[in-house]
Amino acid sequence: MPIPSRPFGSAGFDLPVLGLGAMDTPHSPAAFETVALALDLGLRFIDTARDYEGSEHLLGRVVREHGAADAFFASKTFRRTASSAQYEVDRSRQVLGLDTIHLYQLHDVSTLEAWAQVTAPGGALEGLQAARERGAIRHIGISTHSLEVARLAIESGAFDAIMLEYSAFYPESRPLLDLSGERGVAVVVMRPLGGSGRTSSIRGLLARGAAGILTPANLLRYALSHPAVSVVIPGARYPDRVRENAAAAEAFRPLDPAEMRELEAAAARLYE
Ligand SMILES: NC(=O)c1ccc[n+]([C@@H]2O[C@H](COP(=O)([O-])OP(=O)(O)OC[C@H]3O[C@@H](n4cnc5c(N)ncnc54)[C@H](OP(=O)(O)O)[C@@H]3O)[C@@H](O)[C@H]2O)c1
Repeated sequence: MPIPSRPFGSAGFDLPVLGLGAMDTPHSPAAFETVALALDLGLRFIDTARDYEGSEHLLGRVVREHGAADAFFASKTFRRTASSAQYEVDRSRQVLGLDTIHLYQLHDVSTLEAWAQVTAPGGALEGLQAARERGAIRHIGISTHSLEVARLAIESGAFDAIMLEYSAFYPESRPLLDLSGERGVAVVVMRPLGGSGRTSSIRGLLARGAAGILTPANLLRYALSHPAVSVVIPGARYPDRVRENAAAAEAFRPLDPAEMRELEAAAARLYE
């Protein structure tokens, strides 16, 4: 069974709902195999950033040595001015070996000051708009850990996609997902499993047969149960994780509201 696909906001195309967060993937002896398997299993959205050490270089090697014709690469810049953001776009293109990067995001714009900086005349948003005009990138996104900035970004109409944290550990983003759905902004869910600390604890529980419903598969189901979510990008350093997550995505059926509350309660009890 293939991984189901969903529209990428109102951009006019669909992508498989499972992507790969390649932030930590380079820090693994199986880095190359992990990304290659993801592509072989039909994942397309691969998330990286200028600031993820070794990540763009790893993906560039995969592009050259494995091939990644169907992949949809998303990178990000922490730079806040137009000229430095454009410089970063060109560095990413060089390292990834791509003429055009599918999605380029303003990275971690999580304070009102940072939002004011990137949206000011001469700010990084202007740089990404110019990069899009010259064909260096196709879509513009933003990642944020602030619900306030997320609302401003969605309402601005300037972004094709927004990257937000959303999981049973962090359900607070739900109203922003609703708003993104109304406005046709694609939602990319970061940390859908709650991050590496929690997943390490969950793996410990699984090994002892004590995880109950708090499994990675159910956490992915939770995030994907919101219809405005376009793609979830669990991080992975090993092929087995990708294989498991792909199986969960293939078998996806939404949780009902009662099951979602139950999973949130189990998530809240993780460290009790
Ligand atoms: N824009 C931002 O500011 C920002 C911030 C944070 C993250 N992100 C993006 O979001 C992505 C994901 O975030 P994240 O990696 O912090 O959190 P996450 O996806 O919630 O969790 C990743 C952790 O889950 C483990 N894992 C994955 N699949 C598993 C499975 N089936 N069973 C057991 N464990 C599993 C991984 O283990 P292994 O690593 O050992 O394989 C890793 O430790 C990042 O890669 C990055 O692309 C963006």
